[in-house]
Amino acid sequence: MIYSKIAGTGRYLPERIMTNADLEKIVDTSDEWIRTRTGVERRHVATEDQLTSDLCVEAAKNAIEDAGITAEDIDLIVVGTTSPDLIFPNIATIIQEKLGIHGCPAFSIEAACTGFIYALTTTDKFIRAGETKCALVIGAEIITKLIDWTDRTTCVLFGDGAGAVIVKPADEPGIISTHLGADGKYKELLYYPVGVSKDLYKAGVGDSRIIMSGNEVFKVAVKTLGNVATIALEANGIDKDDLDWLIPHQANLRIIQATAKRLGLPMEKVIVTVQDHGNTSAASVPMALDVAVRDGRIKRGQLILMEAFGGGFTWGSVLMRF
Ligand code: COA
Repeated sequence: MIYSKIAGTGRYLPERIMTNADLEKIVDTSDEWIRTRTGVERRHVATEDQLTSDLCVEAAKNAIEDAGITAEDIDLIVVGTTSPDLIFPNIATIIQEKLGIHGCPAFSIEAACTGFIYALTTTDKFIRAGETKCALVIGAEIITKLIDWTDRTTCVLFGDGAGAVIVKPADEPGIISTHLGADGKYKELLYYPVGVSKDLYKAGVGDSRIIMSGNEVFKVAVKTLGNVATIALEANGIDKDDLDWLIPHQANLRIIQATAKRLGLPMEKVIVTVQDHGNTSAASVPMALDVAVRDGRIKRGQLILMEAFGGGFTWGSVLMRF
């Protein structure tokens, strides 16, 4: 039996930081409101010239170094993102070129904030099928380029970043289980109204904005993230107390706390990074993983549940022994 295992992690955040105080100068908001409602203290914002693939390449280099491999070892690239450089070619091929490697399959997956969980799950199947020996999996986003900086209900929430992992085959798990889901009936609660086949030719830069029903998204997010975690634990006959760490999507501290409460999990077992970079969509889970691995909280052999939730809605989990 072949399993897959994370061999290395990495992340990259754009240098430019925007604090809540900076936002107070742009929209009618306050540091106190943002902190109490979301837990966010600052977010990193890409410059006009920075591309999502640039963030991905830096995160990938960190993960490659951490795994002790070279870029030439990579035989699959899968990227979860909703903010690719171009409509085509897909961003994974652009990253492949920037890493100086050629020939291996490279594709992207669009599942909003669940993008990394979808990408890692897909990669797990490639590895288990014996087709892949060394995969680069990335969750990345420059979501701030979709932000309307005059809309205080959304602009305070989001930030940019990239997280990457190297995944290799192993004789034992590694990844124990993956569960993905989606329900398109929730589209109207969280979406971006312009796309390739819808109004792209009409839209000027900055003409559009993220449409979100914050209250409704909040409720469904808490319920879904709780359910997703329970499904993963029950499917494997694992008690929540056996978990060493929960790495939830970093959308909002209150959503994370409510999810932990629903699960009966103490916050000491939950990795929280939302204060430092806001909601980075597909980048949030792999970046939180990398933070906790590098600061020594997550150790080899520990049992970790990663889970995410995003526009669509989409959702998913990966249970693994690190
Ligand atoms: N600064 C100050 N006031 C703000 C504000 C801001 N940035 N944004 C909204 N407000 C105001 C509202 O206008 C409203 O004022 P009113 O009572 O006079 O009408 C008040 O704050 C409360 O708004 P409400 O939307 O009820 O706040 P909330 O407690 O639900 O928090 C969110 C708003 C967006 C933080 C919260 O709903 C949330 O996090 N939702 C989930 C969003 C999310 O995670 N999306 C991504 C999912 S992957």
